[in-house]
Amino acid sequence: MRLNGKTALITGAARGIGYEFARAYIAEGATVALADINAEAVAQAAAALGPKAIGIQMDVTSQASIDAGFAAATTAMGGLDILVNNAALFSAAPIVEITRADYDRLFAVNVTGTLFCMQAAAKHMIAAGKGGKIINMASQAGRRGEGLVAVYCATKAAVISLTQSAGLNLIANKINVNAIAPGVVDGEHWDGVDAFFAKYENKQPGQKKREVGAAVPFGRMGTAQDLTGMAIFLATPEADYIVAQCFGVDGGNWMA
Ligand SMILES: NC(=O)c1ccc[n+]([C@@H]2O[C@H](COP(=O)([O-])OP(=O)(O)OC[C@H]3O[C@@H](n4cnc5c(N)ncnc54)[C@H](O)[C@@H]3O)[C@@H](O)[C@H]2O)c1
Repeated sequence: MRLNGKTALITGAARGIGYEFARAYIAEGATVALADINAEAVAQAAAALGPKAIGIQMDVTSQASIDAGFAAATTAMGGLDILVNNAALFSAAPIVEITRADYDRLFAVNVTGTLFCMQAAAKHMIAAGKGGKIINMASQAGRRGEGLVAVYCATKAAVISLTQSAGLNLIANKINVNAIAPGVVDGEHWDGVDAFFAKYENKQPGQKKREVGAAVPFGRMGTAQDLTGMAIFLATPEADYIVAQCFGVDGGNWMA
């Protein structure tokens, strides 16, 4: 029960990695607000996790929605100790096919959403005077270029950069800001990624997923459960002296 009595808000928690983090935090004793743009899915997700889960419809691209979502979460939970900025979109296209609409859409969720959710959490944490933990979901994609994935890679590089600056600024208030950079994690998200590569690399459905899994030094794709250890650790007092870092949890994928 390493998070006993703690309160957390996780964006994009209706499914995938965010949902698994919510399950793991609750298992460690926390109360968790699952915030997601998909109202029906987040209500179902929270119901499945029991009384220590609160489902909140929140669009991280809208300041009014962020303000309302954080107000609802902090009122319901009686505070906010931990934020996980997890909501994100993915897209792929060769440079000559990237559209401004797609670029704006990805930056609005992955970068602007991350920054202004950090700001909302920091305001609550500073006012409460107890410090806090902010964990941003980056990606191996933020540490390198990928020919067909320019926009997503750029958004995740921006998440790493925001983590560094916010980490340096907010540690004065005992708020630790750090990031996790997964490699390839199986789930509905990667089904979408696979479909992009089927289109642009002329592959069969499922082929890209098999290829990337086989190429991971660990020997398989990651699972959301592979990431929960780091997500819990970074939210505990054991991580108090860790500031502005981005940790790869990727089976060795980025290093290779
Ligand atoms: N799956 C991977 O291979 C992988 C690899 C590296 C990094 N990541 C990162 O990990 C995080 C979680 O990934 P995942 O695989 O669980 O993704 P996912 O697509 O399964 O889940 C993302 C969630 O975000 C929600 N969302 C989308 N737009 C939103 C908005 N405007 N406001 C609020 N919620 C919104 C979606 O409804 C969805 O529930 C993301 O930041 C992703 O970039 C994933």
